[in-house]
Amino acid sequence: MATPTAIVLKITDKQHDLIIHRSRSGQPLQGRIRIPGDKSISHRSLMLGALAEGETVIQGLLLGEDPRSTASCFRAMGAEISDLNSQEVRVKGIGLGNLVEPLDVLNVGNSGTTIRLMLGILASHSGRFFAVTGDASIRSRPMSRVVKPLQQMGAQIWGRKDHSLAPLAIQGQALKPIHYHSPIASAQVKSCILLAGLMTEGQTTVTEPALSRDHSERMLRSFGADLSVDPETNSVTVTGQARLKGQTVIVPGDISSAAFWLVAGAIVPGSELTIENVGVNPTRTGILEALAQMGADITLKNQREVAGEPVADLRVRHSQLKGCTIAGDLIPRLIDEIPILAVAATFATGTTIIRDAEELRVKESDRISVMATQLNLMGASITELPDGMEIVGGRSLTGTEVDSFTDHRIAMSLAIAALNAQGTTTIHRAEAAAVSYPEFVETLQRAIVR
Ligand code: S3P
Repeated sequence: MATPTAIVLKITDKQHDLIIHRSRSGQPLQGRIRIPGDKSISHRSLMLGALAEGETVIQGLLLGEDPRSTASCFRAMGAEISDLNSQEVRVKGIGLGNLVEPLDVLNVGNSGTTIRLMLGILASHSGRFFAVTGDASIRSRPMSRVVKPLQQMGAQIWGRKDHSLAPLAIQGQALKPIHYHSPIASAQVKSCILLAGLMTEGQTTVTEPALSRDHSERMLRSFGADLSVDPETNSVTVTGQARLKGQTVIVPGDISSAAFWLVAGAIVPGSELTIENVGVNPTRTGILEALAQMGADITLKNQREVAGEPVADLRVRHSQLKGCTIAGDLIPRLIDEIPILAVAATFATGTTIIRDAEELRVKESDRISVMATQLNLMGASITELPDGMEIVGGRSLTGTEVDSFTDHRIAMSLAIAALNAQGTTTIHRAEAAAVSYPEFVETLQRAIVR
């Protein structure tokens, strides 16, 4: 009898090695999986809850490190947020413009969404001073994409490298409205400007080159903001100085977390998984389209709408994948899923080309370079392109030592690759997964059929 796939988490001080040993035949993954709440929606529910009047009740909040950072920043500015749990979190909002000046530096940890969205809020809080920082990854990621448009609105922001790198200092001001034509399709940029526009007299518009995730637009509307969307030009306009009213937010499961199981189910022979309660907002479902192009067997079941967001259960069964091209307007709709798509492409027949994804170079790590080097260490054939990757599929992988580079999505993508690699894979710094998916290893252990 073959040795079963063994999964061991070795913890030394704060660093975790995730060790995955696969036998010759490997074990399929089966059963039903419930994934944690959507990270983007979790951040926004805490932020809008803090800025609203009255109480916001959040069900299904992601308990990852990133939303915890958002909660601690807004607590430091006067919002009363109950203990975080996935059943029910209560936020006592303090009303638009009423955040108090924090007595210490705000620390966003690893969270790009927290710092970029929050900058729009802070810059427009006139008469108050804020200092913001984060971990080593945050301190190396470009902030000019939000600092520049905020400066056009009259914001006062200081930082290293011409005010483009955290730590940042912000002196809140009354801002003026602008029409910002963003050079990148980024929901973080769009949301930052819209949140600054919320507190600014007049109409603030953001136009983006392709549609990015629209959770801010949906949630701002439900909290009572005056918002209009022009889908022809990918433009959103917010009318300032509105009042937000606390709401009940039901956070769907995160399709970016579901993506690991979709690919695991597709590539490990004999697998069949149902992933429950997944948010399938069309601005996020590029992963489903890319996997369909690759010949994956994925079915959407029980499609429904929950608190303004579409939700479904996703069933995936193993099938032989084939290479495809992923580029253009599809990229912003699957930007966070490219590391795990690279794993799918490694096990597909033929070549997969990913282009127009230069944004990956400035995520939590340089995801083009890290995925290419780490999967190549296992025997994959990936060539880096300036804006993507060329992946020649069909190579068999062998376990070895790899590293997450402290990037949560890299840690989990490498773990899924290890399920189909011969022998033992050790993923260093696997604790990064807790940023968006604290129960990842436990769920993996449960899904493997023994
Ligand atoms: C996010 C937007 C995306 C994504 C990030 C979360 C958000 O970034 O990569 O994980 O919640 O707005 P960009 O829109 O800047 O690409």
